[in-house]
This record gives sequence, C-alpha cells and structure tokens, in this order.
Amino acid sequence: MEDLVNVNQFQELAKQTLPKMYYDFIKGGAEDEFSLRENIEAFQRIMIHPRILVDVRNINMSTTLLGHAMSTPILVAPTSMHKLAHPEGEVATARAAAACNILMALSCSASCTLEEVASSCDAVRFYQLYVYRRRDVTEGIVKRAESNGYKAIVLTVDTPRLGKREADIKNKMIVPKIPNFELVPVDIDSKTQEKGSGVEAFAYETLDSSLNWKDIEWLKSITHLPILIKGVLTAEDARKAVEAGVSGIVVSNHGARQLDHSPAPISVLEEIVCAVSKAVPVLVDGGIRRGTDVFKALALGADAVMIGRPVIFGLAAHGEKGVRKVIEMLKNELELTMALAGCPCVKDITRNHVKTLGDRR
Ligand code: FNR
Repeated sequence: MEDLVNVNQFQELAKQTLPKMYYDFIKGGAEDEFSLRENIEAFQRIMIHPRILVDVRNINMSTTLLGHAMSTPILVAPTSMHKLAHPEGEVATARAAAACNILMALSCSASCTLEEVASSCDAVRFYQLYVYRRRDVTEGIVKRAESNGYKAIVLTVDTPRLGKREADIKNKMIVPKIPNFELVPVDIDSKTQEKGSGVEAFAYETLDSSLNWKDIEWLKSITHLPILIKGVLTAEDARKAVEAGVSGIVVSNHGARQLDHSPAPISVLEEIVCAVSKAVPVLVDGGIRRGTDVFKALALGADAVMIGRPVIFGLAAHGEKGVRKVIEMLKNELELTMALAGCPCVKDITRNHVKTLGDRR
C-alpha cells in the first residue's frame, strides 16, 4: 500500500482482487454510463483560483454536521453489501471511519447487521433508509437504528425502482446468501434472480415505489431522529424538502446508478444551495476522487461531501487498512489544497475560490 499515491489506484487493485461480477456491480452505472462519466468530468470544468500570501502554517479541516464534530467535511456514503468486497464488510469500514474521525452512513442494504456495526466502534453513524413496501419492516428497522445510537436517518428517494445496470444483467448478478445479511424483508426466489439482475428483481419486489412527499410526514411520525433526504437534483425539490421539514439534503444521483443522463450532482449543487439558503445543511456526492474535488464542492456551498466507490475499492484491496488509507489520502489532499489555495479553515473556502468553465465538449 505504501506505493499507492492516489485513491484511483485502489480501483485497479480491487479489479484484480474481486470476482468480475462483484467488481462490475460496484464500478458500474446505469445504461450508457453517460452520467457516470459526467460525475467525474464535471469536476474537471471547475477551476480553483488560489489566494496568495496567506499564513497557512496551520490548516484546520474540522467542521460539524447536525452538531456532530468531524475531523474533515468528508463522510462515508451508504453503499450496499460490503462483504462482497471483504469478509469483514461494514464492520471494517466503520472502524476505519472511526479511526479517521469521520462520519459514516450505513446502508440499509448492508451485509452486517446495524447492531454489529454499532457495537464495533464508537463513531458517530447515520443510517440510510429505503422504504420497503412492508412499512412494518421499515418501521422496525428505523426503531433498531434509533435504539442502536444512529444519529440521523438518510432517506434515499431516488430508487423507486432500480436503474438499468447492464453489467449486472449480463453477469446475472445475484443477491448473495451472506449470513446476517441485513437486506431481506422478502425472499426472492433464485429463479427470479437467474433471469437477469437479481439485485433489480430484489428492488422491484421490495421497494415501495408509491413513496411520495406525504410519506416524509409518516417517517417523521415514527422517529425522533433528524432526517436527511438523499437523491435531490433540483432546486424545486430542495425547497419542497425544506418545507417538508427535513434536517438536511444530499445532492446525489446515486453514483449514476439510477437515471442515466441525470446531471452530475456537482453541476447542480450551487442552484440547490441557493434554493436552500442555509435552512439546512447540504451534502453532495458523486465522482469525488481528489481533495481538489472536495474543495470545489465546499466552494460551491456544500457543507460536506460523501464518498462511495473509493471506500469500497479500498476495502476490497486491503480491508480496514485500505479504507483508512483512502480516507487519509483524501484528507491529506484536501489539507494540501487548502494550503495552496490560501484557505486555512473550512469557512475560508468561498465561492470566489472557484470558476466554472463553459461546457468544452
Ligand atoms: C451505492 N449507493 C447507495 N446509495 C444508497 O442510498 N443506498 C445504498 O444501499 C447504496 N448502495 C450503493 C452500492 C454501490 C456499489 C455504489 C457504488 C453506490 C450510492 C452511494 O451512496 C453514493 O451516492 C455514490 O456511490 C456516490 O458516488 P461515488 O462516490 O461512488 O462516485
């Protein structure tokens, strides 16, 4: 691992380590993967305009989110089934996040139970929720998250059905049988899974595609935890979310795994930040691979960012140590970017530090 110099290199290692079906599942996006490419390329159209002659001997990346202290404005995004990547699964990821003093959002489709993750380390954790057709099952999960000390619910709303992930269809990706697998409120028979993507079949059978704005009220009625809404891509929906009483917004296109040709989250971040006008924190994810990407997101008004695939690739490559290394690399790069841009503290990073180029294509 000492030879690795950036988080992109973990992807190549993960490719060498993982069975093709699992690597493709983690790496892939929906349909033509236009948005997957765009998530990365949109960052390349934003330039950082540094300020000179600022005393940057001490760089302070620390910040808070919903009152929780973090060493840096970076969170682990909720991603499913970490045991596909490493036998220790989400427990290893959570320990790495705790060691780096950053927040993790545990996926509702985790391959360790939320209790196992809660007892594995002391870190502050959020819980990502999918609303299942079985509302009783959903409610039970929320109660367990509450009683196990999760500090917020991250409600993912961009998945009424699963996006068309063609690699998974070709590979006949199945939801594997993993002991303690949190996922399964209904049993999908293996024949359904064999027809194409089993993950898609699973989502189709279980997720509640009737979910709508009124259900935020329902969710608020069953939990006292703050609710962040994940999957917002328009200013209009951001305003509705604030009106509905959520405590935070995650600008996200689900790592380009849902609606292909949805915009890169970084390219709609600013209009959403303006619409929210500081009523609640705004987070963004999708395509963040460098400290400079984190800096750009903060300059465009994000309170924090979330990281998806690099964490899983780190886990696949070197387990807990790999995840730690990924987080540390991003933290170190952000610290260096802040120094070179003349921003000693997170609050010193402003809109004036970035300029967006016109679309060059
Ligand atoms: C995800 N994502 C996701 N989101 C969510 O709300 N619940 C989930 O269970 C999952 N599962 C999942 C699995 C895998 C393999 C990936 C790659 C992604 C989306 C995730 O939270 C996040 O939005 C993206 O991963 C961010 O993009 P990057 O950082 O992967 O480019």
